[in-house]
Amino acid sequence: MSGAAQVALLPGDGIGPEVIAAAVQLCEAFCPGDYEFEPQLFGGCSIDVSGVAMTDETLAACRAADAVLLGAVGGPKWDTTDADAPRPEQGLLGLRKALGLYANLRPVKAIEALVDASPLRAERITGTDLLVVRELTGGIYFGEKVRTDRFASDLCQYSVEEVERIARIAFSAARSKVSSIDKANVLETSRLWREVVTRVHKDEFADLELEHVLVDNAAMQLVSMPTQFDVILAENLFGDILSDEAAMITGSIGLLPSASIGNPGGPGLFEPVHGSAPDIAGTGLANPLATILSLAMMMRHGFGREDQASAVESAVASALAAGLRTTDLGGNATTEEATAAVLAELV
Ligand code: NAD
Ligand code: IPM
Ligand code: MN
Repeated sequence: MSGAAQVALLPGDGIGPEVIAAAVQLCEAFCPGDYEFEPQLFGGCSIDVSGVAMTDETLAACRAADAVLLGAVGGPKWDTTDADAPRPEQGLLGLRKALGLYANLRPVKAIEALVDASPLRAERITGTDLLVVRELTGGIYFGEKVRTDRFASDLCQYSVEEVERIARIAFSAARSKVSSIDKANVLETSRLWREVVTRVHKDEFADLELEHVLVDNAAMQLVSMPTQFDVILAENLFGDILSDEAAMITGSIGLLPSASIGNPGGPGLFEPVHGSAPDIAGTGLANPLATILSLAMMMRHGFGREDQASAVESAVASALAAGLRTTDLGGNATTEEATAAVLAELV
């Protein structure tokens, strides 16, 4: 890298600022001068100041940056069912869409030291190493919304192009198999999804295995035999739900990182899968590992620094092997102690 990489920092709300502080502290100690972080208001804290979850200035700063690192947004303070009131989540959806980040990568690995921290039986989860490829800028999240006093609707729509491009990402990431998730026995969008994925497979990736799994069965298979999966390809809403479910294979949602990509030349967005955890915000007990692992994904996918990414990932694995356990994993390590434990393995 020539000069420091510019990273727009969006700490957000709840535990967001706490886990972001941990990742930045670790990054600055591990590779000083490589990354420069510029914080921006985003989410609920932005609504408090300017009435919107993402201002034009914040979006412009993200567009101009080399990557975006995000904590989490949202919380009870801004929860409302009023369609006209601003919501923190609008900022997140608007940012993903504006940056063209249609592919959300969520790796799920059963970490050996943590196999007993999962509520699932060790023999079922040992060896799990899967990737959820979630479509991120289409589907029911972005279709037209209608609300009257007595009626509401959310339109779910996908175009052939939207399915083709996310299918290519999934096949390109697969080592052996893509499990494409849909509800083709009911939904028209799922029938299009299945046809397009089948064609992309046949025309471009015939050497890989492809299976179609109905989403209800997939939810069951994920906890009964997670080792059968390599890449799970899912539309926006299914991928959101299945990835939180998959988090429990690792033992906690506090361990799952993500990378949102899809716009070559533009910045990627790197964020933990979890939310702002209002129930533990301010206690100093948030698990920072999902954000630290998202930082590693930023190093890899955003900057091609496989060396740095794998060093951070190895340090997390070593700290866990040495006994690091935050409260979500049944221990009592604080956010600060967890960060220090990973750092001790790194430098
Ligand atoms: P959540 O992920 O915030 O919390 C679910 C549970 O997991 C809580 O018990 C929480 O304490 C725990 N948890 C989450 N992250 C943790 C961590 N790092 N360490 C320890 N425990 C952790 O989900 P929720 O409660 O459904 O949502 C809370 C708010 O977050 C909502 O406003 C929601 O919209 C928002 N949210 C934001 C994002 C995001 O910014 N990307 C993602 C999901 C939810
Ligand atoms: C996630 C979150 C978001 C989503 C919300 C906060 C809009 O749950 O990043 O998984 O549904 O995409
Ligand atoms: Mn989610």
